[in-house]
Amino acid sequence: MSLSNYDEILRYAKKHRMMIGAFNCFNMESAQALVAAADVMHTPLIIQTYHAHVDFAGSDYMQAIADVAAKNVNVKIALGLDHGRSYEQAKQCIDDRYSAVMIDLATQDYEQNVRETSRVVALAHSKNISVEAELGEIVMADSTYEEIAAGYTDAEVARRFVKETGIDCLAVSVGTAHGTYKYAPKINFALLQELVETVDCPIVVHGGSGVSDEDIDRMVRLGVAKLNVGTDFFDAYKNAVHAAMATDELLAKCDIVDAMAAARTAVQKVAEQKMMIFTKYRV
Ligand code: 13P
Repeated sequence: MSLSNYDEILRYAKKHRMMIGAFNCFNMESAQALVAAADVMHTPLIIQTYHAHVDFAGSDYMQAIADVAAKNVNVKIALGLDHGRSYEQAKQCIDDRYSAVMIDLATQDYEQNVRETSRVVALAHSKNISVEAELGEIVMADSTYEEIAAGYTDAEVARRFVKETGIDCLAVSVGTAHGTYKYAPKINFALLQELVETVDCPIVVHGGSGVSDEDIDRMVRLGVAKLNVGTDFFDAYKNAVHAAMATDELLAKCDIVDAMAAARTAVQKVAEQKMMIFTKYRV
C-alpha cells in the first residue's frame, strides 16, 4: 500500500479502539523491523523520523525507504517528521512526500506557535498531509517530577490552539518525557483524560520508552490515539550491534550484515511487544 496520512490511521484506530505506535526509525533496517512488526500484528503503524535524523539521513532517503516498506505490507503505514523545528524543515518533508509532519514550537510563545503551525497546516493540508503540533513542554527524561510538571499542557489553551490552527493531532505534556527516565514516570491521568475528552482532535503522548505496561494499557483504555516511542528501539538496535562485537574475538569474526540483521530482529521484537498492548482491546 502507499503511505497513509495520520488522519486516516487515527480514524481507523478510534473506530477499532486501539492506540497507534509512532515509532522512531532512522535507517533501512529499523524501518524494515517496524513495518514487519506491524504486518505480523495486523496493526497500522506510524514510522517517524526525528528532526536530527532527517538532517543526518535526508528526508528524500527516509521517504524512499518508508515508501518501499509500506508497499511490501498489507497494513496502513504513515511516515511522519518528528519534532520538526521550523516551517522550512516541515516543507522539506512535505516536498519529499512524507504523509505527515510534526511542527514543534512548544517552547515559543503562544501567538508564534499558532502563526507558524497554521502556515504548516495550510501547506500540508493542500497536499493531503497531516500535521501534529505540541503544546506544553515535553522535557528530557532526566528531569525531576517538578520540572516535568512545570511543562504540563493547559487543557483550556489546548482547546483554543486546536481550533485556531486546524491541526490533525496534538502532542501533550502529562508526565512523560523523552529519553531514559531517571525517575519512574508519574503520569497525570486526570489531565490526560480531560485532554482526550475535551480537545477536538486526537491526543498524542510522547516519551513512551520506559513507561510501564500498566500505564500504557491505561492510555489505550482512555483513548490516547498515538504513543511515540524512540529510545527503546535505539537501545534494542545498539545493544544487538554491541553484542555481536562485544569482544575482540567476536569483533574480528563479525560479519557486519549479521550484526545489522540481529539489530533488525531486536527492534522488531520490541515493536511487537508494544503493539500487543496497543491492540489488546481492539474491536
Ligand atoms: P522516547 O525516546 O522517550 O521513547 O520518546 C520518543 C518520542 O516521544 C519521539 O517524539
